[in-house]
Amino acid sequence: ETVEWEAASYDMGGHDTYMHKEISEQADAVDRVLRGRIDEKFSTVHLGGLNLDAREARGIRRVKILGCGTSYHAGLIGASLIEGLARIPADSEPASEFRYRNPVVDPDTLYIAVSQSGETYDVLAAVQELKRKGARVLGVVNVVGSAIAREADGGVYVHAGPEVCVVSTKCFTNTVVAFALLALHLGRIRDLSVADGKRIIEGLRRLPGQIQEILESEEDIKKLAAEYANAKSMMFIGRVRGYPVALEASLKLKEISYIHAEAYPASELKHGPLALIEPAMPTVAIVPNDSLLEKNRAAMEEIKARSGRILAVAHQEQEKADHTIIVPKNEDELDPILMGIPLQLLAYHTALALGRDIDKPRNLAKSVTVE
Ligand code: G6P
Repeated sequence: ETVEWEAASYDMGGHDTYMHKEISEQADAVDRVLRGRIDEKFSTVHLGGLNLDAREARGIRRVKILGCGTSYHAGLIGASLIEGLARIPADSEPASEFRYRNPVVDPDTLYIAVSQSGETYDVLAAVQELKRKGARVLGVVNVVGSAIAREADGGVYVHAGPEVCVVSTKCFTNTVVAFALLALHLGRIRDLSVADGKRIIEGLRRLPGQIQEILESEEDIKKLAAEYANAKSMMFIGRVRGYPVALEASLKLKEISYIHAEAYPASELKHGPLALIEPAMPTVAIVPNDSLLEKNRAAMEEIKARSGRILAVAHQEQEKADHTIIVPKNEDELDPILMGIPLQLLAYHTALALGRDIDKPRNLAKSVTVE
């Protein structure tokens, strides 16, 4: 299954930067990764290139996801989707670290390599090392026919279309959606009920419209970026599903604005980072309406007590925060997909306000094909 990339999509299409164009394309991109894959009758999804039959899928005891940079972060959300929906223990690790710690390669573990370009050396080398040891490796890749896609035993194409800006936005979002599809597929082979399958499918179908809704609030986010652009350093916090969102948002901010940023699980604040909190170090808090809402509110209270400024990304106005970006609610499992999007815009407008070269940040490359 392939999706044609139109040559025209390589021009900027009226946007000032590729990053802005790519952020703006996300509703269509998500529509594309879903297209033709949903099976209403059995409340599951078909993934043509997976190369993993139901018996094999039932035999998986663990999932290990490997990637670099933004793809590693997409893998963290992917792991939580797989663990949540398929109830298979799953985690994500930077591919380069994995490769050098002489990992125990276990035949009942499913390895998944994540890469936008499909060419990142550290990921490719990890795949090759795993295959040499007889492991089964799937790819979650954007570029069709790329080295990692060819080397893997099967996988899921992300269908985000070409991404030109050095930092990844639409591909990150689509990769997470691809993981949601894989998690749903594995879940329905295992113990996920028809009702839960249906719930997730309906949530997936709501994503493009909700993404569009978030993109329409760009002007408000631009104003917030102007408020925070003078920060020397920023803290990003979240819990469980919100933590990878915080990690990715902090990476995006540092990559293109050069503002120092840290990401912490909100629960870890008291074990060190609270010492950094002061008015010059604002915090972005990921605060979904889920079972951790009260815990997240308590963390915001701790920050306020130290005169920290707070920008919350939430499903409803947050009293403790100085500003709240409200995003539409989806199913708890899919909320991280939506919560990341306003923070791409925040990083973008912060970098723009600071006059940075957004599509080509200093010292970074779109794909790193050497070690
Ligand atoms: C580079 C890029 C990052 C990207 C990472 C992994 O460092 O600057 O934006 O996340 O490579 O790239 P991949 O193509 O494997 O997803």
